[in-house]
Amino acid sequence: VRTIGIDIGGTEIKAGIVDDTGAILRASRRDSEPRDPEELIRRVVELVDELSGDAPVGALGIGVPGLIAAGTGTLLRAPNMPGIDGTNLGDRIGGETGLPTLIRNDADLNAWGEFRAGAGIGTRHMICLTVGTGLGSGMIIGGQLHAGATGYGAEAGHIVVEPGGRSCGCGGQGCLETIVSATGIVARASDRIRSGEPTILVEAGLTAQKVHDAAAGGDAVALAVYSEVGRFLGIGCATLMNLVNPELIAIGGGVSAAGDLLLGPAIKEARHRAYPEVFAACRIEQARLGVEAGVVGAGLLAAEMVPERRTD
Ligand code: BGC
Repeated sequence: VRTIGIDIGGTEIKAGIVDDTGAILRASRRDSEPRDPEELIRRVVELVDELSGDAPVGALGIGVPGLIAAGTGTLLRAPNMPGIDGTNLGDRIGGETGLPTLIRNDADLNAWGEFRAGAGIGTRHMICLTVGTGLGSGMIIGGQLHAGATGYGAEAGHIVVEPGGRSCGCGGQGCLETIVSATGIVARASDRIRSGEPTILVEAGLTAQKVHDAAAGGDAVALAVYSEVGRFLGIGCATLMNLVNPELIAIGGGVSAAGDLLLGPAIKEARHRAYPEVFAACRIEQARLGVEAGVVGAGLLAAEMVPERRTD
């Protein structure tokens, strides 16, 4: 069965027709609209119309960057996209497209994509961390995507690692996401720039990508930022490993493109912090599907809603 997978982010809406191997047959995208739910819905529906024009699709899967109450289509709270809090995206988009529609947390769907078609193929217990604007996570436990009692499970970005640290979009303080995310990288680099440390970085218009490029070019401040952020990522991984005993923690999302710059210190720190036996049972690796993981996971999970699987 062919489905449409959609990944709604703060800057972009990605969409694709996904087959049952997880391949994206056709893709399209639009700028996101993080403040106006009506306009956001309009753009998503337009993408669905555009993609379903050529061939019929069986279902629609949508990933959103926040909490979806199990069994409803309402996005209760998106820490990095608060303008759409409270909107019932699932019912609205499902109603307007006429397609069976599944809506879930973006990072849960990234994890499902990696589990079924990426780094997690062959595993039964894995965690996928998505490091982008925020830090999302999804857990596969015993081959099942963990949802929790009310659908809010696997919010590793909000594990507290720095009591008294920076304020987080969730209302908390010192969450892992305040450090391990594009936002956290920019904040940390800005602190160092402001304190007068010599660097080629400038605060105005700073992005995680610019910090990454400077680190790749040997800038000491940028390198220190990545190594600190990597260490915190490792602390998070050790915590998750000790809790879940997974075979794999896959690190995805835009920031994970930094590769060893981030994963090197993370693995070192996790080795140091986790139960040695637990660490020995688990790989920490870069995710494989890149920024398309959410589209793939949304499409594959939506396919499970379609009762009759066709083979064409
Ligand atoms: C939210 C998650 C989301 C992640 C990435 C976090 O702040 O709490 O639900 O998956 O950002 O978008």
